[in-house]
Amino acid sequence: MITNTELEYKGNLYPNEIVDFKQDTDKIYFTTANGVILQITVLRNSMIRFRYATDHNFEPDFSYALNKNALRGYNELDIRETPTEYIISTVRMNILIDKKTLRTQISDPEGNIICEDELGFHWEENYEYGGNIVKMSKITRTGESYYGMGDKATHSNLKGKRVENWVTDQYAYGKDQDPLYKAIPFYVGLTDNKAYGIFFDNTFKTHFDFAHEKKHVTSFWADGGEMNYYFIYGPTMEKVVRLYTDLTGTPELPPLWALGFQQSKWSYFPESRVKEIAQKFRDLRIPCDGLYLDIDYMDGFRCFTWDKKLFPDPKKMIADLAEDGFKTVVMIDPGIKIDRDYWIYQEAMEKDYFCKRGDGPYMHGKVWPGECNFPDFTNPKVRKWWAELYKEFMADIGVHAVWNDMNEPAVMEVPSKTAPLDTRHDYDGHPSTHRKAHNVYGMQMVRATYNGVKKHVYPKRPFVITRAAYAGTQRYACTWTGDNVATWEHLWLANVQMQRMCISGYSFVGSDIGGFAEQPDGELFARWVQLGIFHPFCRVHSSGDHGDQEPWSFGEEITDIVRKYIELRYQLLPYLYTMFYKYSKEGLPMLRALVMYDQEDPQTHFRTDEFIFGEQILVCPIQEPNSKGRRMYVPRGKWYNYWNGEVIKGGMEKWVVADIDKIPMFIKEGAMIPKYPVQQYVGELKVLELLVDVYFKLGVENSTVYEDAQDGFDYKKGRYSLRNFKLNGKENELIIQQFKDGSFITSYETIKMQLHGLPFTIEAVLIDSEKVSLDAVKLLENNCIEVPKEFTTLQLLGS
Ligand code: NOJ
Repeated sequence: MITNTELEYKGNLYPNEIVDFKQDTDKIYFTTANGVILQITVLRNSMIRFRYATDHNFEPDFSYALNKNALRGYNELDIRETPTEYIISTVRMNILIDKKTLRTQISDPEGNIICEDELGFHWEENYEYGGNIVKMSKITRTGESYYGMGDKATHSNLKGKRVENWVTDQYAYGKDQDPLYKAIPFYVGLTDNKAYGIFFDNTFKTHFDFAHEKKHVTSFWADGGEMNYYFIYGPTMEKVVRLYTDLTGTPELPPLWALGFQQSKWSYFPESRVKEIAQKFRDLRIPCDGLYLDIDYMDGFRCFTWDKKLFPDPKKMIADLAEDGFKTVVMIDPGIKIDRDYWIYQEAMEKDYFCKRGDGPYMHGKVWPGECNFPDFTNPKVRKWWAELYKEFMADIGVHAVWNDMNEPAVMEVPSKTAPLDTRHDYDGHPSTHRKAHNVYGMQMVRATYNGVKKHVYPKRPFVITRAAYAGTQRYACTWTGDNVATWEHLWLANVQMQRMCISGYSFVGSDIGGFAEQPDGELFARWVQLGIFHPFCRVHSSGDHGDQEPWSFGEEITDIVRKYIELRYQLLPYLYTMFYKYSKEGLPMLRALVMYDQEDPQTHFRTDEFIFGEQILVCPIQEPNSKGRRMYVPRGKWYNYWNGEVIKGGMEKWVVADIDKIPMFIKEGAMIPKYPVQQYVGELKVLELLVDVYFKLGVENSTVYEDAQDGFDYKKGRYSLRNFKLNGKENELIIQQFKDGSFITSYETIKMQLHGLPFTIEAVLIDSEKVSLDAVKLLENNCIEVPKEFTTLQLLGS
């Protein structure tokens, strides 16, 4: 075995033998002879933090990523020592620390190795900037796969790839281009049906190599800061993702309208054009909730101003649009125009809120308004000031939501596309250069925006969108995948990017439907809408310098198809909202890659196209022109074809028919899918009946429906309605039990159940053990029954 001392000739430094060991409750410290300290913190039975210092010296412990309410606590912590190693055990895992090298090995309670260091922690001194380049290498096990890492425009399984995290304005990015707009240094590894996660909480530029350089090694390193990572054990991917999501937080529920359809363009102006677009939606009866104002509404691109020639009375315009059910969303960028007559510029100057360079001058850069200065959002005082700037927009003018763009921050006409690295930041009292603050700059901007919007739209719920993000940004804002292109390849990418973001704890995400750059044809647009309605954020946006990209821009046939799918989105709103509720409360990802749905089935490990929308709807987009159908992998279990009710058995590839008006879509057997009637916007109709599509199964399946006032915060006081349904199908009987929670009174009295695949003819119906006449439940020919919403047991008997 090569010792660490022998390895040092390669320019790297390695820990040597452990000379001291100390325990302080949940923290365990190992010190080596050459001054490395490994601090291990047991956070949960399945979550351990590893932190390494060199020269006996830890940096102050501070993180922007962590959710301050993350759960902590473990049942058992045992530390043993053998002649060669220390062993730390929780009820879920054992961590071995080698006494000679400080290398670690993690195994499950049965002794199966889950993840082990190759060379482990090592570092290189950074002579130019100071500090260390900190590195970690792990052994890649046979058959190991890797997922996650936020927004990477590449195959979902990262094995064999090297990626980097440095948030970047990447206009019209291509497949495999890296890095993009987000830095989420979190991945999931999977071998032998056991999944674990590693979150490297370091905001410097980070690099991950997944068996790319060496077949048997996966490594990650950062250009500065500490080797500081969280190890999370599953063994299911779902558990890993839930624990990571809890560690970095989830958003509160958005207003329901934010899950409705959104229409955007760079840019809709003047006011008359915005109103024309709104009217067209209503005339053509295409549901829509959000209308977006891109930068041109501003006066010379000055944030928090209006171009009064284009928008003479924004308050009235927004109120008029709201009358018709539209919410207005406006863009705010970080760059503040250098203009002595502009009050925001003056104020920021007076208060000394702009970022400065290493030697003192202001950092400046060109963006839409010309030369700009940039507020230092890593300073809590700046964030407070910025939050207050939203008062007029939200509380007085009535803007409904805000969209933060260019917050990488993007700077034009410089090769780095961003602020110079010597730009200084407060970093919440831990002064740093841009090398450390770059990846969190946009996150801190949108955090300030979120706080301001939340305060000033109260008692309504805030809705904020960001382009740049670091791990944890999901607590504050929805996001989109930036400037994509109107090509079939980008449709494929959008599908993979959304699934990957969901694995990375960031479920409230969407793509620019139809593509931002270039012009889609009608077929591509329709296929993209068919996919986009299954993404948590569903918005059409385009650069607008070519043709139009509204649902009606591609002729009648396409308009009809697009309408049909947007309508489906509105019908599925209670299902989608329930998904969001579970994401918000339990950290459950809203979309599941097939590998997360069934990791035991190795067939799923390299699939990219098929995904599960929520927990029970399988979707597979059509990604090629002129398709009449496609081959797709149907995961194990039985599935109902949504379009024709046919039941198919999964665990194999199938050919599925999908003409231009169909997207392959299947419902898991046993599922109960709630639906609302089609509305032109959220809240247009009082829901008088909840429709539930019931898909018969021989056996048991659970489903949930979450509802509340759709806005406001009453749900936090228990005013929500949670229906947990347990379906149990037998040869001649179907039993549905309902377990209710919450005090919200829904607007409907009855639930209409559409029964699919019932293998018997209903002869008797019992509600809460009492027989009711078939007339009383309006049993219709097509197996549709109506039951009072508060039933606890429904029994359908047949022969
Ligand atoms: C870049 C954004 O990604 C895009 O969505 C927006 O339309 C333009 N900036 C103009 O604001």
